Amino acid sequence: MRRALVIGAGGQIGTELTTRLAKELGGLNVVASDLNAPKISENTAILSLNLDVLDQVRLRQIVVDHEISEIYHLAATLSATAEKNPGFSWHLNMQSLLNILDLAKEGLIQKVFWPSSVAVFGPGSPKSNTPQNAFMNPNTVYGISKSAGENWCNYYFEKYNVDVRSLRFPGLLGYKSDPGGGTTDYALWALKNAAHDTPYISFLENNSGLPMMHMEDAINGIIKLMNAKSEQVKVRTAYNISSASFTPEELEKEIQKFKPAFEISYQSDFRQAIANSWPDSLDDSEARLDWDWNPKYNFSSMVENILEGFKKTSDPN
Ligand SMILES: NC(=O)c1ccc[n+]([C@@H]2O[C@H](COP(=O)([O-])OP(=O)(O)OC[C@H]3O[C@@H](n4cnc5c(N)ncnc54)[C@H](O)[C@@H]3O)[C@@H](O)[C@H]2O)c1
Repeated sequence: MRRALVIGAGGQIGTELTTRLAKELGGLNVVASDLNAPKISENTAILSLNLDVLDQVRLRQIVVDHEISEIYHLAATLSATAEKNPGFSWHLNMQSLLNILDLAKEGLIQKVFWPSSVAVFGPGSPKSNTPQNAFMNPNTVYGISKSAGENWCNYYFEKYNVDVRSLRFPGLLGYKSDPGGGTTDYALWALKNAAHDTPYISFLENNSGLPMMHMEDAINGIIKLMNAKSEQVKVRTAYNISSASFTPEELEKEIQKFKPAFEISYQSDFRQAIANSWPDSLDDSEARLDWDWNPKYNFSSMVENILEGFKKTSDPN
């Protein structure tokens, strides 16, 4: 019997992953947790709890009490926010992962999903179609924590046979919750503004290309990777995955196909330096080969779908 604990379930990914897991496993087999017990909108059978992932005693208690077999660990400080508080961000991003890997090492849980990021790459990495095993010199605290986390995952797999799986997410775009303080957030705010006929001031420059993905594809990727047979998962650091790459100016043009009056103006800030250090696209051929990764959305269909979603679901604020 699979029973999943989602940590950080109130965030951008967690909100959508929790309800999707309930469809996969049944609501009674999903426990959602966050610093404050998250609100569950679509499936009331999901149990919602408060949990600080740094509280190892409570974490262990929840795992034992609810017979958890797999953890989806989404709690973290994201790229832009982490630069404002490097010491705490390093502590949260690293210690939380180690707390969970240790539970798996003890055999209390059988599987772990932990997301990595394109932020593992740095200014010395190839910029376009960045290979799976490219040189990495991340120069943000977020990127350093993700790169170290990937190596810890691989270490626990090799030394202790811990079944931990990970994906290097690009900027994720969905309309069901607001983004949590990343460098790619500009795209989501632009789409939300456009849906409500409001212009947008971008904190990245017009020609700043970054990899992006529809949230639905990201969630499908997590489910597919976690459902794959262990021997299919040949990369135990984290897999490159990719779907679309664009600049703010290209996004503006694409949005204008649906909203001709929409405009982006530019006022870049400290997040530009973070964006400059990241790749603009990734080579995801190993994920395609090993466990059949295959995103549904391209740039155009992603923009159209998210604009539609925002029109239906969000208020202009
Ligand atoms: N969203 C993206 O575009 C993106 C891209 C790459 C990687 N990721 C990674 O995916 C994961 C989730 O990202 P997200 O966008 O959903 O982030 P988010 O900031 O929207 O959500 C994170 C959640 O974790 C919770 N949290 C923070 N500290 C906690 C603690 N001590 N204990 C328990 N919960 C705590 C927060 O309250 C929040 O609800 C992160 O590891 C992030 O680095 C996200």
